[in-house]
Amino acid sequence: MNCLDLMKEMDAGCVDVILTSPPYNTNKKGSSKVNTNTVHAKQGEFTYARYDGYDDNLTNDQYCDFVAECFKGFDKVLKPNGVILWNASYGNENANAMFLALNRIIQEGFTIADVITWKKKSALPDNQSPNKATRLCEFVYVIVRSGEFKTFKANKKVSSVRPTGQKMYSPFYNFIEAPNNDGKNNLNKAAFSTKLVTSLLELYAPPEKETVVFDPFIGTGTTAVGAVALGMQYLGSEISAEQVKYSIERIKVAKGEQPC
Ligand SMILES: C[S@@+](CC[C@H](N)C(=O)[O-])C[C@H]1O[C@@H](n2cnc3c(N)ncnc32)[C@H](O)[C@@H]1O
Repeated sequence: MNCLDLMKEMDAGCVDVILTSPPYNTNKKGSSKVNTNTVHAKQGEFTYARYDGYDDNLTNDQYCDFVAECFKGFDKVLKPNGVILWNASYGNENANAMFLALNRIIQEGFTIADVITWKKKSALPDNQSPNKATRLCEFVYVIVRSGEFKTFKANKKVSSVRPTGQKMYSPFYNFIEAPNNDGKNNLNKAAFSTKLVTSLLELYAPPEKETVVFDPFIGTGTTAVGAVALGMQYLGSEISAEQVKYSIERIKVAKGEQPC
């Protein structure tokens, strides 16, 4: 279902962490051999079709309004001092979208506490370009309510305590090396890898078992698979029925249950 509808049904303050990769509004057009199921493809236009059933082609104003609605929902469902881990990147076709969306998020009463670089192994097709460096990374914005900038906590380890009582923390460099995805699937060209998800949750999710991780754009279910690996609870929404089916099977396997 649409995450905006789901969040209307959810209780206030019921999730500890939101970890998600929203649509980037890439506005990419091209021919797709993989997917003929998007709105544009159905109208006879070619589309790059990054996701099954969703063609990522809003105007930037519509996109920012959508992001603002999402963050209103996040403000409702996230516990006090909860963290939003918002994966984003920029594209040649619509280089503005990520920056405009971040600006709008800040206007909604949030602030960027940190930026984690997700270093991937390769970044096709950019590593075939003669005129620019290979783009090997995406970003994960660590976003908190602006009033909670000083009170939210990561799981950094205390390395020493000074005689004054002041705690010193082990450094965590803003850098996670993790695969591009968990293997190719035809439903989503922009999936997480489980390694990225577990690394982020180990750093930012309260480590207790009751911790609830919410991914409003759960796609192929990678966030849930990572949460299961760490013994955490998960919740997700996704508009593509095919991806929902696929992720339910993946989650069953991750839990050691029989797939259907
Ligand atoms: C970047 S992908 C997420 C991929 C996911 N992290 C994974 O590992 O598979 C974004 C997803 O958001 C979905 N989506 C787009 N708009 C949505 C909405 N309003 N509510 C829920 N899902 C939506 C798309 O169908 C797409 O699968």
